[in-house]
Amino acid sequence: MTKEILVYPNPILRKPSSNVEEFNEELHNLLDDMNDTMLECGGVGLAAVQIGILKNVLIINIPVDDIEDFENTDGVQLKENLIEAINPKLVFSEGEQIFNEGCLSIPGIHEEIKRALNVTISYQDRFGEKQTIQADGFLAVAWQHEMEHLTGHVFIENLSFLKRKKFEKEWKKSQKEKGKK
Ligand code: CO
Repeated sequence: MTKEILVYPNPILRKPSSNVEEFNEELHNLLDDMNDTMLECGGVGLAAVQIGILKNVLIINIPVDDIEDFENTDGVQLKENLIEAINPKLVFSEGEQIFNEGCLSIPGIHEEIKRALNVTISYQDRFGEKQTIQADGFLAVAWQHEMEHLTGHVFIENLSFLKRKKFEKEWKKSQKEKGKK
């Protein structure tokens, strides 16, 4: 089922999430709802807090270029590429990359953010089985972005003071205009 995504500066987005203890039907429903919501909104990742559930749960699905269909250059999200991560922990990171990030909770905004280039993360899958993943490039960015949500932070908090100020001004203006419509 598709859920409503909380939009910045909703105060719930500032709250830290807590670990999942039970790997039950409730968790599986949450994961399924998160996937429905992410796909509906055209996102590549989603944290549970973004639909108001303060649990350490995130999903990621990086699109692949659809080489069969030249008409479609947007890329498709394959079910087999869906990552479902419960209680993720960063165990290693190195290097640096700058990536133009966006977020379903701050729609329409894209900003260049500095992240680690390579990450190793341990997590549990929907059945509670321990998993480890090594990621680089876009996938590493997605992991870092979604894990940041679980700590009660959003990507624009990484901007410099001046860029953040500029963002807040533009965001307030765009939200006001949205309200008028
Ligand atoms: Co986000």
